[in-house]
Amino acid sequence: MRLATRMGRLGTETAFEVLVRAKALEAQGRDIVHLEIGEPDFDTPANIVAAGAEALHGGWTHYGPSAGQPELKEAIAAYLNRSRGTAYDAGQIIVTPGGKPVMFFVMLALLEAGDEAIYPNPGFPIYESMIDFAGATPVPSPLREANHFSLDIDELAGLITPRTKLLILNSPGNPTSGVLDREQIERIAELAVAHDLWVLADEIYSEILYEGEHVSIATMPGMAERTILLDGFSKTYAMTGWRLGYGAFPTALVDPINKLMVNSVSCTSMAVQRAGIEALNGPQDEVRAMVAAFRARRDLMVDGLNAIEGVSCVLPKGAFYVFPNISGTGKTSREFADLLLSEHGVASLAGTAFGAHGEGYLRLSYANSEANLRKALGRIKDAVAAVR
Ligand SMILES: Cc1ncc(COP(=O)(O)O)c(C=O)c1O
Repeated sequence: MRLATRMGRLGTETAFEVLVRAKALEAQGRDIVHLEIGEPDFDTPANIVAAGAEALHGGWTHYGPSAGQPELKEAIAAYLNRSRGTAYDAGQIIVTPGGKPVMFFVMLALLEAGDEAIYPNPGFPIYESMIDFAGATPVPSPLREANHFSLDIDELAGLITPRTKLLILNSPGNPTSGVLDREQIERIAELAVAHDLWVLADEIYSEILYEGEHVSIATMPGMAERTILLDGFSKTYAMTGWRLGYGAFPTALVDPINKLMVNSVSCTSMAVQRAGIEALNGPQDEVRAMVAAFRARRDLMVDGLNAIEGVSCVLPKGAFYVFPNISGTGKTSREFADLLLSEHGVASLAGTAFGAHGEGYLRLSYANSEANLRKALGRIKDAVAAVR
């Protein structure tokens, strides 16, 4: 039995593998602090759960339009337009089961052999995986600690060739929590227009921002017709398991992407979409409370990590990850992450799980209780002391 060759080009997300290993250790009676998975530890706000349950009882149990329910698409367009200053029409929105399928569909729709796509590295591993899968060449754009894990725009400009077709941005970013500011976004938009590039702007962490403003490249001159804005409900509303996300597309891409929806999942769950309407149009105070909790935990983690000799950590402006430099331990990221889990009971991800430029770093998700974070910090300190 032989798989199709393309399967050899498909990567994965290490977070799920580490979770399995951590669970296996727990099954043996070990106490593990989970800092590996990128999801809020909070439950979905009760008003959203109630809307989903009510929808199920109310008969929202059938197929629906592949691009999404009109009422949710209206709510999404209105949300984007008020939060970003865009001018989307509901017809440009496609609702998907999580934000991830937007990546899959965009790469399948736009990329082929001979094309190059620039993506952040370290970055969300699915970008590189999907570029490869679509047959194009992934071109890493390094994110460096010296720039607070923001892009170096001059370096980015140097990566663009006549073959470059797509540029992927992710601000605030996973795994580094780096953020692009307005001036950087303006310069990137100029490059995209000058070189006629598509831009996939992954803005899934836009609401989890502790300082400054979130700037969407879709608002820049000439960008509405070349930007795909990816967002969703997983992070902002603690809805990872519901699987609800969306893309806002230039009109020319709506039909092709909708065709990919029809050919894959048909539509996103109807009841889940009803819950999404409540999430966007209902009270937002729980979102604010979650972000405030994340900010306090960020400060706890950054202070705690910087107090450990041999470790340094920049203060992230958004998302819920810290990306400490552990090169002072003398171990590779992978070695240190393995040791931290097996010997000290902290599940984390090696920076290299997000690309080669993640060597020397760990990703720790602080979507966990302050008590657990303190426990993890103590264990990380012990692990560093044991190897130095
Ligand atoms: C950068 C980034 N984009 C997109 C996603 C996809 O989220 P979902 O498919 O749950 O909406 C994630 C999830 O971890 C992420 O970190």
